[in-house]
Amino acid sequence: MYETISTELADKIYIITINRPDKLNALNKTVIRELGEAVDEIYDNPLIQAAIITGSGNRAFAAGADIRGFNGLSKEEGMLLAKQGMDVFFKIENASKPIVAAVNGFALGGGCELAMACHFRICSETAQFGQPEINLGLIPGYGGTQRLTKYIGKGPALEAILTGTPISATIALQRGLVNHITAPDELMDKTKSILLQIISKAPLAISKSIAAVNAADGNMNGYTLETRLFGECFATDDMKEGVAAFLEKRTPVFRGI
Ligand code: COA
Repeated sequence: MYETISTELADKIYIITINRPDKLNALNKTVIRELGEAVDEIYDNPLIQAAIITGSGNRAFAAGADIRGFNGLSKEEGMLLAKQGMDVFFKIENASKPIVAAVNGFALGGGCELAMACHFRICSETAQFGQPEINLGLIPGYGGTQRLTKYIGKGPALEAILTGTPISATIALQRGLVNHITAPDELMDKTKSILLQIISKAPLAISKSIAAVNAADGNMNGYTLETRLFGECFATDDMKEGVAAFLEKRTPVFRGI
């Protein structure tokens, strides 16, 4: 039914697996669209009471938005790219049923932003979180500047975003970015067991709890600004150089233009 994700429903828990392991589950346009459709299914299907988002293979949850898709985009197209991802991630965040990220490896860039849009995160010992867009002459564009700051605080978020250095599973646990760390082969069982405990509770109280906790987040201005600034990066030479350098597997040379 889907090209880039797979889905299964067992014990009232819907499992969405991003399925591009050879590209470390990078989020191209099709993944974003199909994730949106799968989240619609969570909203609409009464047989689904909770969901897990994870990545296929043993290396990555998702290593970011697909950098190949950045080539030749204008400022406006960059903003649209950000908005399309953000819309799906808001839909995840605002779902009335719990959606949890089971982070099985790299959660970088859009992958970290996807995990952060979920209601909470469980990760394997091998997980790494981060916003490495700076290495491409770019900023996060799927809500990373807002949600990372919310989860780990301003100083650590700025250091992570400005250096692009990944955050290990242990540090993620210490800072509250993830709730639990497991051995890789126990990740799905641990995530399912927490969700089974949750869905034994009253469904209306679950959805009202999520809505009330989400309301602690404040306003939308930061997300709007992030979308505009992400788009503006597409008009810079440095971003074109950063993307070309990644694809050519070399170090970029930034010139500040
Ligand atoms: N977009 C597109 N392709 C990606 C990707 C992304 N975000 N992340 C990884 N890939 C692809 C690589 O291009 C490579 O494809 P190829 O085999 O056709 O060349 C494949 O996935 C494996 O990645 P590779 O870089 O060879 O693996 P590695 O183990 O050497 O490095 C990472 C792993 C995660 C450190 C590295 O892939 C990386 O830095 N990815 C980009 C992370 C990023 O900047 N994300 C934010 C994007 S906005």
